[in-house]
Amino acid sequence: MNPWEIEDSGISEESVIQNGNRMFCGNGFMGYRGTVDEADKSSMTGLIVNGIYDRQGDKWREPVNFPNPLFIQLSFEGQPLTLKSDSLNSHVQKLNFRYGIFSRKTLWNCNGAELTVESERFLSMSEKNILCLRYKITSNKDITLGIIQKIDEEVYDANGPHFKIEKKSDVGEGKCGEILMCRTLEKQLPFAVARISDFCSDTITLKAAVPQIITVYAAVFTNLDENNSPMAPVPVEQFASISVLQAEKAGWETLLQNHKKAWDKIWEDGDVVIEGDEEARLAQKNLRYSLYHLQSIAPRGRKALSIPARGLSAQTYKGAVFWDTELFIFPYFLYTQPELACEFIEYRIKTLEGAKRKAAAYGYEGAFYAWESQEDGDDACSDYNVTDVFTKRPVRTYFRDKQIHINAAIVYCICQYVEVTGDTLILQEGGLEVIFECAKFYISRCIYMPLKDRYEVHDVIGPDEYHERVNNNAYTNKMILFTLQKAVEFAEQQTETSPSPASHSFTKYIPLAKDICKKLYIPSPNAQGLIPQFDSYFDMEDCSLETVRSRLLDPKEYWGGANGVASHTQIIKQADTIVMLNLFDKDYDSAVLNANYDYYNPRTEHGSSLSACMYGMVACKTGRLKDAEEFYKKTSCVDISGNSKQWAGLIYIGGTHPAAQGGSWMMVVYGFCGFSIRENKIQIKQNLPAAWKKVSFTAMVGKEKYQVNVTREGYELCRK
Ligand code: BGC
Repeated sequence: MNPWEIEDSGISEESVIQNGNRMFCGNGFMGYRGTVDEADKSSMTGLIVNGIYDRQGDKWREPVNFPNPLFIQLSFEGQPLTLKSDSLNSHVQKLNFRYGIFSRKTLWNCNGAELTVESERFLSMSEKNILCLRYKITSNKDITLGIIQKIDEEVYDANGPHFKIEKKSDVGEGKCGEILMCRTLEKQLPFAVARISDFCSDTITLKAAVPQIITVYAAVFTNLDENNSPMAPVPVEQFASISVLQAEKAGWETLLQNHKKAWDKIWEDGDVVIEGDEEARLAQKNLRYSLYHLQSIAPRGRKALSIPARGLSAQTYKGAVFWDTELFIFPYFLYTQPELACEFIEYRIKTLEGAKRKAAAYGYEGAFYAWESQEDGDDACSDYNVTDVFTKRPVRTYFRDKQIHINAAIVYCICQYVEVTGDTLILQEGGLEVIFECAKFYISRCIYMPLKDRYEVHDVIGPDEYHERVNNNAYTNKMILFTLQKAVEFAEQQTETSPSPASHSFTKYIPLAKDICKKLYIPSPNAQGLIPQFDSYFDMEDCSLETVRSRLLDPKEYWGGANGVASHTQIIKQADTIVMLNLFDKDYDSAVLNANYDYYNPRTEHGSSLSACMYGMVACKTGRLKDAEEFYKKTSCVDISGNSKQWAGLIYIGGTHPAAQGGSWMMVVYGFCGFSIRENKIQIKQNLPAAWKKVSFTAMVGKEKYQVNVTREGYELCRK
């Protein structure tokens, strides 16, 4: 069994959709779902390019699903050969996640002839606009088949259509292929998709046991691509045509070797090696699978892009960027490829104007970042994010209006970046402005309570989305405090050294910011050491998860909002106070960590894939190794097992889960290895599972790159 491979032979509708996610291939510029070559929109095929969105009418804005240039379908006696055909004998598909290579082997029985299709595809990691497919057909008897090869323009859309085709043309140089010149509907963004095949007929006559191999090269270009100069943009179709012809000239073998070399380079620093027995090998596989997914969606090929909450795997969650990136995904890149981590910050700098528009629209100062952010930073989160299963009516949710903790996650991330890399340039290039604008928003959002002589923060939603519009969410308040402290610190430093225009804009807020820092109410532990998630949390009905679940009348019912089964109970969706205790563990003693872990864990549905890793890390910090191992399994298996939540009310929310994948890395490195940075020095407080002998990973701190080897007995740091 290849430790870098997963396989599946499911052909049910559900398996096809799940494998679309599980066997996803991507190179950061674009992603392609793990569907078979002949799949069409009914199988939710998908080719998503990072950062390209469109809106149809008043439906949700979402990523554009591009025309599929790798479509090949065989037919026998006029009947298409698909996974649903009666003639299907067997099917297996695989993903090699060391190199992002999808493959399949499918057998059909065509009137006594056994027909085998084997194919392999990859999205080139070295040539970001190129996709390659090799398709091999073999029959044990002479046979003639029909074959359709095309750029399939009939794409799956959740809220489409999103483009029109303006022109179809030949690919040039007499090659067999085509170019589609398209334009998105809302922003009229031009893009082109090109394809060349080395087989040109619509029938194939096979001799017994003599394989026919078809190689397809495809190219996808938008006029926003990095290699297209904004000053003198080359028409995208010209780009696509040149690139696809070049790809064809380079040939499959060369492209594959370059692609593999690029992945080898990624793994040099991006890998984490877990040594030990069988269980450790499983943990290793799950971790590498998670890291593969992160690497295949990390923005490459265009500047200042981030990672959407469902990666590039689907149109779910509107292809939007959430706090997932900053708090869950960012740490892995920070220590292994800080230049990519920096892109996430650049993305927030780029979208600051959108955040300012949002703050102003609510009547606040500064910037209020989009809960669901797309290319311009305007909020894609709609007022009605859930559909009621009973009435079929949209349910008003307040995620967009009230999850103000998003700002602090961004500030936290910038501060981490500066602390770990020592790179302060990002501050001058917009980072400071982001911090100050976020702080201004919080200053205008905090309320002074004269009778209590303290500031409070009302009407928010914390990470636990089931309880909307609460007051003094402990996590939010603590993160606001962090933001304001950092803003003051940076503003004072800047005015002392080189006053930047950004710090100047914050100077007049410093006294108020300092006052809030002194008097902001941070819910503190009660006599039992428990911190209330928000005001009156402990007064809500205290029942078990099972009781709440038993009240569901429909399995797809939404648990939160005004009438949800959890809304009026202490049952929460995901880690909330525990996120706070994890980020700020040094501010609390271990009795508080223990008490809150014991209290909140049984009351948490873990209904979000962001939950397990946070509990897992606190479990490590409090010496609950068994729990931690369970949480690790949960976070690292979300996508490899496909066992994730697929519905929120009637809305499909499937796709891949980068936050849980980033959570796998955090659990291993921060959790089991107890890795942290104190005063620029690496600290290790390991607590490895019994089956693990050693964990090795790369950590870049300042200008130094270290190989960190952690065993049960100790650890070593070697310069790399
Ligand atoms: C979670 C959020 C998360 C979002 C995207 C929601 O279900 O509650 O915390 O940011 O999914 O992953």
